[in-house]
Amino acid sequence: MRVCMGWFAVLVALMAPLSGGKTTAVAKSMEKIPFGKTPDGGSADLYVLKNQGGVEVSITNFGGIVVAIKAPDRQGKPGDVVLGYDSLDGYAKRSGYFGAVIGRYGNRIAHAKFSLDGVTYTLAQNNGENSLHGGTQGFNKVLGEARDISTKDEPALELKYTSKDGEEGYPGNLSVTVTYTLTNHNELKIDYTATTDKKTVVNLTNHSYFNLAGPGGDILKHVLMLNADEFTPVDAGLIPTGELREVQGTPFDFRQPTAIGARIAQDDEQLKLGKGYDHNFVLRSRKPGSLVLAARVVEPTTGRALEVWTTEPGVQFYSGNFLDGTIRGKGGQVYQRRSGFCLETQHFPDSPNHANFPTTVLKPGERYHTTTIYKFSAK
Ligand code: GLA
Repeated sequence: MRVCMGWFAVLVALMAPLSGGKTTAVAKSMEKIPFGKTPDGGSADLYVLKNQGGVEVSITNFGGIVVAIKAPDRQGKPGDVVLGYDSLDGYAKRSGYFGAVIGRYGNRIAHAKFSLDGVTYTLAQNNGENSLHGGTQGFNKVLGEARDISTKDEPALELKYTSKDGEEGYPGNLSVTVTYTLTNHNELKIDYTATTDKKTVVNLTNHSYFNLAGPGGDILKHVLMLNADEFTPVDAGLIPTGELREVQGTPFDFRQPTAIGARIAQDDEQLKLGKGYDHNFVLRSRKPGSLVLAARVVEPTTGRALEVWTTEPGVQFYSGNFLDGTIRGKGGQVYQRRSGFCLETQHFPDSPNHANFPTTVLKPGERYHTTTIYKFSAK
C-alpha cells in the first residue's frame, strides 16, 4: 500500500501521449519505457538517458534504481558496468539493493534505535539487531514521482518521494527529491535534496554495484584509489566503534592506487569482521559542501575508469561480500561473491548514535542537499 502512496508515477506535460505500452519519447535524449507492475499494482517506468559521449544510463522510478550504465571501453565498445536484474520483479522481490536509492538512512543504525531531544525512536531490526538501509521497506522499494527535467544539452530525470512521519519508525514527513543528470562529460550526477517538518535524521546514497570489466568480470583486479587517511573500524555487527583509525600500514590504505584483491585475504581483524571490505572511509577534509574526489577505479583489461566525486564526508567501500551465488541477475548471470563493488557516498554509519561523527540531523526549515558524481572514461 505504502508503495503506491509513495513515488507516484506522473507523466509530465512535455511527454507525448502513451501509445499502448510502446516506447514513448519524452525528450531527444531520454526515452521512457514501461518497466512493469510493483507487487501492489503500481506502474514503474524505465527512463533511458543518452549523452553525446556514448554513455547510456537506465533508471527506474521504482526505488530510483540505476538499472544499467553502458560505458565505452578503450576500444569504444560499450558494456554494462553495473549489476542488477532484467525486470522489475527482481528489484521488487529480492534484496541486494542493486543500483537503488538508499534512505531514509543509508547503512546501519545500532540496535535499530536513536534519540533526538530525549525521544527514542525505534526502527525495524532487519539486519540482526540493527537497522540497515532504511528498514523493511526502504526508499529502494518505493515508487517515485518522475519528471523529465532535461535541458537541450543534457538528459535529466527528477524523482520525488514523500516519506511519511513515522514511516519505518523515523520522525517527520520527509520530502525527498533525487535528480539524475547525464552530462556530456560522461558523468552521472546525482543530487539529493530533502526537507522535513520535524527534526529527523537523513543519510541518502546510491547502492550501485560496479564491475567495470562488464558482465562476469573480476572485481579483484580493479585498481582502486580512495582519498582517505582514516576509516571507521566496526564491531561484529558492522557497527562503527566510534574510532577514526589511520589507514597507514593497514590493508585499508588505498591512497596509492592498489588492486582491490591485493590485500583482501590478509589476516586482518577488520577484514575478517567485514568478510572483506565493508567499511566507511573518512574522506580528506575540504570545505564542507564542496565536491571532493572520493575514489578512482581503473579496470586494466578494458581500460574503463570510474571517478567518484562527492560533497559527502564518507564513502562505504563494499566488496560484494554477501553476494553468494543465490542471485540470478541480468541475462541469467549468477552473482557470485565479490562480483561487484559499491562506493556508497554517505555520512558515516550509525551517526545518530555517535556524537563525534558529522551530524545527520535535519531540522524543519533546513534543506538537505548532497551531490555525487560518477564519471566514466577509458584509458
Ligand atoms: C552495504 C552494507 C553491507 C551490505 C550491503 C547490502 O554496503 O554496508 O554490509 O549490507 O549494503 O548487501
